[in-house]
Amino acid sequence: MYKTLLTQLENGIFTITVNRPDKMNALNKDVIEEMGQALEEVYSNEAIKSAIITGAGEKAFVAGADISEFSALGKEGGSGLAQKGADLVFNKIENCPKPVVAAVNGFSLGGGCELAMACHFRVAADNAKFGQPEVNLGLIPGYGGTQRLTRLVGKGKAMELMMTGDMIDAAEAKTLGLVNHVVPQAELLAKAGAILTKIQSKSPLAVSHIIALVNSAANCSPDGFRDEIERFGASFESEDMKEGTSAFLEKRKPAFKGK
Ligand code: COA
Repeated sequence: MYKTLLTQLENGIFTITVNRPDKMNALNKDVIEEMGQALEEVYSNEAIKSAIITGAGEKAFVAGADISEFSALGKEGGSGLAQKGADLVFNKIENCPKPVVAAVNGFSLGGGCELAMACHFRVAADNAKFGQPEVNLGLIPGYGGTQRLTRLVGKGKAMELMMTGDMIDAAEAKTLGLVNHVVPQAELLAKAGAILTKIQSKSPLAVSHIIALVNSAANCSPDGFRDEIERFGASFESEDMKEGTSAFLEKRKPAFKGK
């Protein structure tokens, strides 16, 4: 169905695999457009409860935007590329009401690191490597990296990583808070799947409120506290809240419906 992606839906988890392993899964125009379509599926298909984004093969998650497409671009083309990526993919992942996790299976560089950072959180294989090497090309991150890396690891480390273009390994990424878990590569998808299966047993409505509010905190929205109060109140009108509280009092497991 897709030229550059593999997709699979199992137990409510939609796994989207960028599939250009001979090019280190670099993000060309086709990948961005098809990823946009796959994300539309995540938003609209009720059978999809959560998503994993990963890369094909054992070497790379995504080694960046496809550098071979850069030579044709000027000022307008460059900003157009970045804007299109934000609209079709990066902001769409961040704002997805269903959890989206990056399973980082190797090089996660430039646009690849930015793709992982747009996800709600990251699980890494022990061979994963992260970096924003655009400075080596006379460029800067364009898919949100200057903003999201700073929010995730803090100003000093973000400055150093982006100004040197250095790569860090999975263990350092975990120390910095860039990834939540580091596991052997063979266990990567199972680990991401286990976390998502746990989240899928919770109220999908509550989970979607959490995503929106944590995003608003991370994006320094001045309305975060007010929005939390509103969404907290709205939760009291949901069937999920009645089910969750009744189940607790009746000493049984809740069966949430996302209503
Ligand atoms: N864009 C386009 N092609 C890329 C790419 C990218 N971002 N990253 C890797 N490739 C291609 C290589 O050109 C090569 O293609 P070829 O076989 O047709 O020559 C193929 O993927 C394999 O990469 P190679 O460099 O030979 O593998 P390696 O194991 O020696 O090195 C990396 C792996 C990831 C360290 C190296 O490919 C790299 O530095 N990539 C660019 C990272 C980058 O600067 N990203 C930011 C882009 S803005």
